Amino acid sequence: MSACLRRIIVNRIARSLRRNGEKNVADIEKLEVNLLHLLKVNPVSKNTKSDLPQFLLPGSRLKEIGFVLDKDTIDFEDDVIENCYVDKSNKLQININNKLFIQKVLSTVQRLGKRYGYDVLQLPKKHIVVEYSSPNIAKPFHVGHLHSTILGNFISNLYEALGHKVTRLNYLGDWGTQLSLLILGYKRYGDDVQLNKDPLQHLFEVYVKIHEDVDKEKDSTKHLDKGSYHEGLELFHRLESGDEEITRLWKKFSEISLEEYDKMYKRLNIRFDEIHTESMYNQSTQQLIQSLKQSGLIQTRKDGVGYIDISNDKDSVQAVMNKSDGSTLYLSRDIAAALDRFKKFKFDKIHYVVGNDQYLHFKTLLEVLKKIHPAAWKSVNLSEFLIKFGRVDGISTRKGNVVFLRDILDEARDRVIQSLKDNKLTKITSDYEDVADKLGISSIIIQYLRSRRTSHSTFNWEKMLHFKADSGLFLQYCHARLYSLEKEVDVRIKETIDISYLSEDSAKILVQHLARYPDVVNESFDVFEPYVIVQYLFKLGHLANSAYKHLPVKNQPAVLAETRLVLFNSARQTLANGMRVLGIEPLNQM
Ligand code: ARG
Repeated sequence: MSACLRRIIVNRIARSLRRNGEKNVADIEKLEVNLLHLLKVNPVSKNTKSDLPQFLLPGSRLKEIGFVLDKDTIDFEDDVIENCYVDKSNKLQININNKLFIQKVLSTVQRLGKRYGYDVLQLPKKHIVVEYSSPNIAKPFHVGHLHSTILGNFISNLYEALGHKVTRLNYLGDWGTQLSLLILGYKRYGDDVQLNKDPLQHLFEVYVKIHEDVDKEKDSTKHLDKGSYHEGLELFHRLESGDEEITRLWKKFSEISLEEYDKMYKRLNIRFDEIHTESMYNQSTQQLIQSLKQSGLIQTRKDGVGYIDISNDKDSVQAVMNKSDGSTLYLSRDIAAALDRFKKFKFDKIHYVVGNDQYLHFKTLLEVLKKIHPAAWKSVNLSEFLIKFGRVDGISTRKGNVVFLRDILDEARDRVIQSLKDNKLTKITSDYEDVADKLGISSIIIQYLRSRRTSHSTFNWEKMLHFKADSGLFLQYCHARLYSLEKEVDVRIKETIDISYLSEDSAKILVQHLARYPDVVNESFDVFEPYVIVQYLFKLGHLANSAYKHLPVKNQPAVLAETRLVLFNSARQTLANGMRVLGIEPLNQM
């Protein structure tokens, strides 16, 4: 049952109890909460295709929450609830008035507009930090980073839509031995002209070459004490101690990578409030390690490695904080960063949107944080701290198997152009490329968000760009179609409409589906699962298309056209609200 309907029922019952005057206000309030819950968990007793549900609440359950069944307790004079009575089997029967229900749903969508779906939770406002994207400069931006970017953006959008304050944070990997290998590679194979021309491509070539060198040497003893890897480590020490030449190269790599990433973020319509880097925490991590050594939380092994003991009943576990040469690690930098973020943002919650493969890292991170600063971290749940996601396989572009983000976006755009031409779908002549780019990106976003986030899915270009089947292109197509319907007719949306004109099944089913949206948002928010919204929107698209076929607006008598227009406008509004929260800008034409 939709939240909207539940609320209506409970409101009416409470109102009539108040009118009745037998119960005191606090009791009625308590009863409202309990009744809401009862309606939520109570299965719907009848839900035929177009008939609105009828509800049966067993008398025994009602008694448990202090609601004494009595024929005279509830009187409904008005509206959405047609009647409500205790039947022979001692059950409370609630029957809904179809017409008024439809009226209520449509007027709610019209009244709330962009806020429809996000107006249900009266939660206290919280400050949330969401870390997402977080690519590295020494390794290419890969499909996992794209997943994190899209998912993290969705989670931030959802919090914001629900009225919370969000700090969107990007944490660049710009430190560590990987990076020094890149610097070494650049010294061997780098070329300034190439670097300026296409930085990410060139850095990637260098990355591949230096890793080939390291791999070749792996089997020989050279690897450990001389060899390329060792040379890389030495460079890292020079970087850590501020060597001018190395620092200059490192800075240059960071800057140009970030510039390139910025272009991608703009194209994807992604923004950040804060850009932090691993290197930012180099000093404070050293200081943290020192102070934790003094306080005894970090123990030092004979070889100089420092660790925190996070053993539990079953396993003995050591979280390593520094290497034997004293240098910091990915984990220890993350610890310093988390403590710093807590101090800086005083957040109520922090989420890290990172792939499943780093599960262990984040589990350790949280356990260590709980040891260091229990007051702040004790009650944090790992399943919320880390918003993890599974692998998406099979992305390859025409250029080959190693995929750059830019190539994925370009290829999506080019395929959309082809598909629009093949299907003779588009009427657009100017900014053709721009529209195609947006459509391609919508499809990529949906591809990432359409399944359970932890599932392991496969990337499929054909499926992804199908405009009639469930895809991002399909949603855009539905939106544009509804939009042009509104533009084509010369009727305008009226505030009051006559619902008796919406008697067809396709209209009733569509309204029932619209009524579910606030619940769907809630459900998605509870588990941080965008697929709930995506699947809802697919269905909305199909229902709207079918209503579109059966309920013409053009060349109809004015009242009928006006009423249908309100229905279609409400469908488009709800579709747009869903698309926006997923990170897709709905297009008015394509
Ligand atoms: N840069 C890392 C990587 O690409 C991801 C960072 C995730 N966030 C974090 N706070 N550790 O593997």
